[in-house]
Amino acid sequence: MTQSFFEWMQGLSFSAWMLEETWASPIIQCMHLVALVAFAGAVLVVDMRLLGRGLIKTSTARLARELDRWMIWSFVALFVTGAPQVLSTALKQYYSPFFWWKMQIIVIGLVFTFTIRRRVAFAEEGTLGHWPKVVGVLSIGIWTSVSVWARLIGLLS
Ligand code: HEM
Repeated sequence: MTQSFFEWMQGLSFSAWMLEETWASPIIQCMHLVALVAFAGAVLVVDMRLLGRGLIKTSTARLARELDRWMIWSFVALFVTGAPQVLSTALKQYYSPFFWWKMQIIVIGLVFTFTIRRRVAFAEEGTLGHWPKVVGVLSIGIWTSVSVWARLIGLLS
């Protein structure tokens, strides 16, 4: 069932177009990386603040509020630029364990970011003991591992 879905994606004329057009894949890949820079920036500024580093003159809640839109829209951009890459290399992705690791950790990362991290970032400062630091480290770890798995798709598949 999953395999036939990936075979169907690979067979789309859009996928053939992406592979035939010299500049299509490189441009989409560059856009994916630009989106990644925006996403990583928006996430890291708040994570560093949770660790008591970086923009310490501004409250964590305010930084989290201000960067929320950047984080959400840059993730949307990651999805929009990631999806065509999945379509055009569907079978490669299907057979790569790193692709499946990446997707599972993205889901974990999204759930974590919009539940626990959000609560901790918006909480009144100094009321949660060491939890902000734990959450900051976990968040950095989760999104770094997504990037590592993603890179390994290209290197080892
Ligand atoms: C649901 C959203 C996403 C989709 C569908 C997606 C899909 C992809 C695909 C298909 C590739 C190409 C892999 C290959 O064949 O070499 C890729 C590359 C990559 N992605 Fe994503 N991605 C998504 C979100 C993310 C996120 C959230 C991150 C990081 C936090 C990320 C980081 C990367 C990196 C670092 C690369 C490697 C770029 C390179 O080697 O040039 N992606 N992505």
